[in-house]
Formats: sequence, C-alpha cells, structure tokens
Amino acid sequence: MERVKGRTALVTGAADGLGAAIAARLVAEGARIGIIDRSAEAIDKARQTPELRDAVFIAGDLTDGDDIARMMGAFAAKGMIFDILVNNAGGSLHTPKAFLEESDEDWERVMALNVTAAVRVSRHVLPGMIKTGFGRVINLGSKAGRYGSLFTGANYVAAKGAIQSMTLQMAQEFGPHGITCNAVCPGAILTPRVERLLSERMSPEERQKAVEAIPVRRNGRVEDVAAAVAFFAADEAGFITGQLMDVNGGQGMAS
Ligand SMILES: NC(=O)c1ccc[n+]([C@@H]2O[C@H](COP(=O)([O-])OP(=O)(O)OC[C@H]3O[C@@H](n4cnc5c(N)ncnc54)[C@H](O)[C@@H]3O)[C@@H](O)[C@H]2O)c1
Repeated sequence: MERVKGRTALVTGAADGLGAAIAARLVAEGARIGIIDRSAEAIDKARQTPELRDAVFIAGDLTDGDDIARMMGAFAAKGMIFDILVNNAGGSLHTPKAFLEESDEDWERVMALNVTAAVRVSRHVLPGMIKTGFGRVINLGSKAGRYGSLFTGANYVAAKGAIQSMTLQMAQEFGPHGITCNAVCPGAILTPRVERLLSERMSPEERQKAVEAIPVRRNGRVEDVAAAVAFFAADEAGFITGQLMDVNGGQGMAS
C-alpha cells in the first residue's frame, strides 16, 4: 500500500524504538521522512537500515526550545514542509514509579519531553499545514495515560494524559483547516529498552500474569504501533479526528 505517497512526514525521537518503526512504515507507504533524534549513535545505526537510508536526520535535543527552532530551520533549508507530524518522542525516562520518590526534576524532565516538545514542534509545523489545507498530526499517548500503569509512575501517566487531552483540542481547532489530530496509545511494546525496564521492575510471575491479562496473549510489537500510525496518516482517514486509538491487545478497553 502507498497510502502516504508524495507526502512528507516528520517523526520525532525516531532513530530507535517505536519511532524508527513508524518512520520505516511511512517510508514503505511512500512518504519522504524527516527524523529528529538526540543520539548520534542511534542515528548512525538507523541510517544503516534500508528503509531509512534516504531519511533526513537532524540531531538535537527536543527538550530545548532553541534547539527545536534550529532543527526546524534546518529542515526548512532542505525544502521540507511537513504534511504529517508524528510526535513520538517521549517516555518515563526511567524516573521512579513511586509517587513519593518522584522529584520536581523528574516531573519536569518527563513533562518537557512528552508534552512541551510536542507543543513546540507542532507550533512549528502547523502553519505550513494550514497554508496547504492538509495535515495529519499523530501524537503518541499510552495505555498508561488512559488506564494507569503497572510499571511507570504518576509523572508519565499525567504527561500522557496531557498529550491525549491536547489531541482532542487540536482536533477541534485545526479541523477546519483540513488537519486531523489523533493519538495512538500503545500498551507495553517490547523494545530492548522496555524489556530491560520490565525485568527490573516486575518479577517473572508478575510479567506472566500481565501477559495473561492481555486478551491476545502477547506483548506489543513496534510494527503494531507503526500500522496504527500509518492508518491515521493516510489521506483516506480524513474524517477521523480527535480519536485515541488503543494498541494494547485488549488489555485496556473503553466503550
Ligand atoms: N515502548 C513502549 O512500550 C511504549 C508504550 C506506550 C507508549 N510509548 C510511547 O511511544 C513513544 C516512543 O517510545 P520508545 O519506547 O520507542 O522510546 P525510546 O526511549 O526508545 O526513545 C526513542 C528515541 O527518542 C530519542 N530521544 C530521547 N530523548 C530525546 C530528546 N530529548 N531529544 C531528541 N531525541 C530524544 C532517543 O535517542 C531514542 O532514539 C514515547 O512517546 C513513549 O512514551 C512507548
């Protein structure tokens, strides 16, 4: 399928993890891709993957507003005007799970990457979408932000709740301009990093119980999330906006 043929997409935090799989899927569906990531090492590795060979990588820190402005200027200098924005960068940054152990700094770091970075990048991208009368914004929420978490803390849950609510308001505001805004909300997706976090924070018995609580009886894969993002990114999804799509094997459901 080439559902985003001719489109240009920006995926944040996409040299590794879910973002890299999302970027690769959008390339496979025909898009030209811009990627922001802070890790030079991850960028070097991502460049080796055949799907991301032609992606435009800009290295920088998404928690720094000035650096975001610089990176967006670098894309503009390469003539990249984005039709699709995937605000993917985020995470609990391995801050403590226990509420009383989370410091102010833990809260600030998690909010900066999950919420403020998405706000700032969106602010740069949306004017171009308004001008062309077309846009697809896809934010990464989480099962944690929808239903609470088994292994991350209140700061991450609150940050994902914020981005999910922001998604609804952006859908309201930018709908008249041909721009949809949706969120994909994954359950635990077994990247090497999450595998490490789960094994630190849960016993093998707890992990087994968690999988048994998932109706499809397996953890998520990066491809599961990439497929959901590609669905929202397509031209044909233009009547679907303000939606929070659970990608969690049925572990959390809402009617
Ligand atoms: N992995 C999961 O199980 C899971 C589940 C639900 C939601 N999510 C959400 O999906 C998104 C991606 O998660 P992931 O597990 O792939 O993330 P990850 O921690 O593996 O990070 C992916 C990339 O983001 C980059 N990055 C981190 N901080 C950055 C910064 N300040 N500036 C620029 N780049 C930065 C990293 O270098 C890395 O390449 C996040 O929003 C996360 O909250 C993940």
